Amino acid sequence: MTDRPGPPPDHRKPDLAKGVFPKRIFHGRRKGHRLRSRRQALLETYLPKIGITLPAPGTGFDPKTVFSKGPPEVWLEIGFGGGEHLVHQARAHPNTGFIGCEPYVNGVASLVRAIDDQGITNIRIYPDDVRDLFDHLATASIARVYLLFPDPWPKTRHHKRRLVNAANLDSLARLMEDGAEFWFATDHGGYCRWTLAHLLRHPEFDWLAESPRDWRRPSGAPATRYETKSAKAGRGSTYLRFRRRPRGASAGPQSDMLPHGLTGPDKG
Ligand SMILES: C[S@@+](CC[C@H](N)C(=O)[O-])C[C@H]1O[C@@H](n2cnc3c(N)ncnc32)[C@H](O)[C@@H]1O
Repeated sequence: MTDRPGPPPDHRKPDLAKGVFPKRIFHGRRKGHRLRSRRQALLETYLPKIGITLPAPGTGFDPKTVFSKGPPEVWLEIGFGGGEHLVHQARAHPNTGFIGCEPYVNGVASLVRAIDDQGITNIRIYPDDVRDLFDHLATASIARVYLLFPDPWPKTRHHKRRLVNAANLDSLARLMEDGAEFWFATDHGGYCRWTLAHLLRHPEFDWLAESPRDWRRPSGAPATRYETKSAKAGRGSTYLRFRRRPRGASAGPQSDMLPHGLTGPDKG
């Protein structure tokens, strides 16, 4: 007889079709300082109107349906922080629907306040872990994805927490439309190399860089709050843009574009 515990009775392999979802741990802050009363009130009264509630396990939804006018395209920002970039883009592209995803409640409160103050109608918020949203978004339903300055998790033992990993890229490849762009930015050299290596190995993405200018923030895109702080501290930032290949296109991964010594990182 052994005293080693077996798996818990409800331990099952994730199978999205059967509604068995991966058990996820969110590594990050959910709450900061106490919210001022107006922000708290807006979270209670306004967020329910513009927040996304996920459907039942195993069910998908078309993100266009969460907007009253059914926009021609929906763009997604993952980890919007205080929402400044998202607000800028939503104002610049009033006919596009935007979904912002952020588990940090103080950031969500800042965005809700900006939406209310500025009368913005084309933003919806998922105030939680984007990986849960991935499970439900319909295939080929998102026309652009921003992942700007995600937590770099610099220690090797924490690399598996990075949002850029094989599983999340597979999710993005599924939910992005053919030709949709994925924008990534970081001030961390290691995370930049990691992301390039992951995307170049992935069969569904092409890197769009053609000249050194393409590593910089594209014109018309504002610096995010994190980027501004990082620049003040003397750090430079890199932008990477990728395109989701048309479904059925037969080209292989771009691994031959990997810079010397970057043979592909982890299995994460
Ligand atoms: C370094 S901050 C950058 C915020 C903002 N993009 C900027 O540039 O100012 C990274 C953000 O990603 C969010 N984040 C981390 N894990 C996430 C997840 N699983 N889903 C959605 N957002 C996440 C964090 O809460 C945090 O606000």
